Amino acid sequence: MVGNDDLAARMDTSDEWIRTRTGIRTRHFVSAGMPTSLLAAEAGARALQSAGTADVDAVVLATTTPDRPCPATAPEVARRLGLTGRPAFDVSAVCTGFLYALTTAAGMIASGAAEQVLVIGAEAFSTLIDPQDRSSAVVFGDGAGAVVLRAGEPGEPGALGRIVLGSDGSLADLITVRAGGSEQPRPHPDADPADRYFSMRGREVFGHAVTRMTESARAALAHTGWQPDDVDRLVGHQANLRILHAVAEQLDIPVERLVIHLDRVGNTAAASIPLALAHAHETGELTPGARVVLAAFGGGATWGATALTWPALKSA
Ligand code: ACO
Repeated sequence: MVGNDDLAARMDTSDEWIRTRTGIRTRHFVSAGMPTSLLAAEAGARALQSAGTADVDAVVLATTTPDRPCPATAPEVARRLGLTGRPAFDVSAVCTGFLYALTTAAGMIASGAAEQVLVIGAEAFSTLIDPQDRSSAVVFGDGAGAVVLRAGEPGEPGALGRIVLGSDGSLADLITVRAGGSEQPRPHPDADPADRYFSMRGREVFGHAVTRMTESARAALAHTGWQPDDVDRLVGHQANLRILHAVAEQLDIPVERLVIHLDRVGNTAAASIPLALAHAHETGELTPGARVVLAAFGGGATWGATALTWPALKSA
């Protein structure tokens, strides 16, 4: 666990700045060489245990930090879980990745391609960050969370409502790692060495995040017919406490109904929503029958939201 004071000891920042600007107190960083697949497999194993099954028909992994640029990481996660032979692939939508992965899994189930799908969000995000870049090094953390999505009846607890998704490629530069892809396989000799690291235009992202998370949550709510006051828990992508408060206020949902987990783990990108769900389940903030809205915004830009009634689950 890495506290704000640990970061303040190695860069020009302070516990006070980080807490008041973001709400974050601690986060976790993987140790050198620990791959995303290891985190993903650990979360996946716990989700399988909670679902009371050792087998699923597919593994979908949302991640921004695959073990390698090629191949995808999900087959390795499936192997670690004893699921070799099952279809397994990655989904890339940065902080909205988990909602995109859920949509993919729901589509596989609806088409009959699968009965049960393990959906994981996992990130070793610290591997993308310039450790000296105070604007991003204090915000992000590493982690993984997972759920098992299974076939069921519409309207039963756990059934996903309409998943509302969107993207805007004209905003690609707001959240980016410039080098390492086909456009710039390795930094040009005359390019900024910072190109191999993650960069974010935080203030602009802030505004888009509030607008898009609010709009998509509103659209997801409209599909359920719930009013804002019917929502028991709002689980937003855990990027910044001020963003979560702004979204709740714009939706007219009391801020006390927000699930807050970023204070402990920071922004864990695609892992953020499943980690927040696991935390809220463990603490009893999410109880069976609770009406829950999920909303996220991330690189791409991408965004999305959905709603569901929380099912009765076993702890893992
Ligand atoms: N410690 C101290 N000062 C800092 C730090 C730091 N860690 N970081 C920045 N500052 C300074 C800046 O240099 C600036 O100083 P100046 O006014 O003298 O120029 C000042 O603080 C304000 O900087 P901003 O970047 O404008 O700070 P802001 O209040 O916007 O907070 C933050 C930055 C936390 C990143 C915020 O913009 C944010 O949360 N943005 C949204 C992030 C988000 O939603 N991400 C979701 C998607 S992420 C993904 O998809 C991977």
